[in-house]
Amino acid sequence: MHYRLFWNNYKYFPYEKELALKEVEALLNPQEIYSENDVINIELSGTASANEKLKKLTYFSMVESENETIIPSQVRVEQTAGNSTNNRQATRYSAHGIHEYKGKFNPQVVKSLLNIFNVNENSNVIDPFSGSGTTLLECSLQNINAIGLDINPFAVFIANAKQIAISNPAEKIAEVGNKIIRDYHQSNNIFELPLNLTEREEYLLKWFPEETFFEIEFLRESINHNAGPLKNIFLVLLSNLIREYSLQEPADLRIRRRKSPFPEELLIDAYELSINKFVNNIRASQETTGLKVKKNKAINFDSRNLEAQEGVLDLNYFDAGITSPPYATALPYIDTQRLSLVWLGLIPPNEIMPLEGNLIGSREFKNAVKKEWQEKMLSNVSQIPESLFMYCNTLQYALSESDGFRRQAVPVLLYRYLADMMLMFKNLLPYFKKNAPYALIVGHNHTTLGGKRFDINTPKLLVEIAVAVGWIHDESVELQTYKRYGIHHKNAVNNETLIILRKP
Ligand SMILES: C[S@@+](CC[C@H](N)C(=O)[O-])C[C@H]1O[C@@H](n2cnc3c(N)ncnc32)[C@H](O)[C@@H]1O
Repeated sequence: MHYRLFWNNYKYFPYEKELALKEVEALLNPQEIYSENDVINIELSGTASANEKLKKLTYFSMVESENETIIPSQVRVEQTAGNSTNNRQATRYSAHGIHEYKGKFNPQVVKSLLNIFNVNENSNVIDPFSGSGTTLLECSLQNINAIGLDINPFAVFIANAKQIAISNPAEKIAEVGNKIIRDYHQSNNIFELPLNLTEREEYLLKWFPEETFFEIEFLRESINHNAGPLKNIFLVLLSNLIREYSLQEPADLRIRRRKSPFPEELLIDAYELSINKFVNNIRASQETTGLKVKKNKAINFDSRNLEAQEGVLDLNYFDAGITSPPYATALPYIDTQRLSLVWLGLIPPNEIMPLEGNLIGSREFKNAVKKEWQEKMLSNVSQIPESLFMYCNTLQYALSESDGFRRQAVPVLLYRYLADMMLMFKNLLPYFKKNAPYALIVGHNHTTLGGKRFDINTPKLLVEIAVAVGWIHDESVELQTYKRYGIHHKNAVNNETLIILRKP
């Protein structure tokens, strides 16, 4: 049977078309495939389950055969999210838009990889750096089992709130949302500050105008009181707004005092709007994918420490891994989200910096820790592959006195990053089944040391490490991305690589 596959009218990056064709190959194994007038034509021998598979495709708007037209479910889910910018595909559909998270995946890439890996409802997927839970959500939408790990308790909180949202009817979420907003207006937002302030309250009062602090605390109590098992959805939706209304410069990833004016819109109005928008996205996605049984979850875990974690994870268990690990000099995930972390009571204020310092790729380097790693690097205590050890040393020798404190730390930071990622690769391997693929999306870095620019090809370095501890490297695909970090655009990643590994 002959089928014609039509592209969407949004703008594609070349890699998306590449992935789209890989999906067709993996799912349908066509006898013939060719492009004619920008339409993909395929010839299939058996047609038994073709329709179901064609509906799973990520990047096509429509499929036509001689006697019918098929619309992939992704098209309907994206249409209703209605937030596409730059004529690009919508990415905030279903629960994806519940909270900003720096370094968030493009959900379509995850879906496409699930198709390419032929992962199905009996498969188990892992994301060892699950962040805001994009992989988990895409898996849930397709009834695939998945586990996510992240060292950041706030990331875990967001990821699990998404799972609550897709497993509860949109109408129920809407009802609770209405109640929270109604109660706020009826009660005149009365919040009484306790006489003895906790460390948490003292901290937050430093970072919010007093009336805003009262307001978010009132809402927090109201959510805890009114929202029952749905409460984390509403806490996350509010958390997504609080930076915007804080004394911290909202557009800055680091802690800086606010210079820009406060938003004109009242916080409560912005909150109501975001609840309504979220409910609409959930409703639309539930109309297409149905209500999901909650089974996938994120766990607060350090993916370097997976050794002997039987009981948390099972050996030879995973059919695939999909992740975007932190970069060699990662974004300050914790610093950026410290107000939410403290407001939600996930960590006390004095643990912000230690947690930031403990993230893979962290740039936070206390002197003692820096010394410790300088020592380790001297004799390659972590036993990273010789070529990479040499590379770190090349960077070290390139340093000159004119390089500032941060640059002085770059070679050792890179060494620590590679050592940490090696632990993750090594310790994760036993949990994968034989031949199971592991996909990682990784950015490139560059730095200037002693006046000379160094392009750090992180994907290539990671492949070397993974292979050294027993993974097979299947292929690497270049992904073109756009600038996306606002005022930090100088650090924006313009080029990422999709690495595909496989357990032997
Ligand atoms: C690029 S982000 C992942 C974003 C995610 N793909 C999403 O869509 O939201 C990298 C994540 O790695 C996490 N991370 C850093 N070090 C970690 C470690 N040792 N164990 C587990 N997670 C870690 C960070 O907290 C961050 O959430």
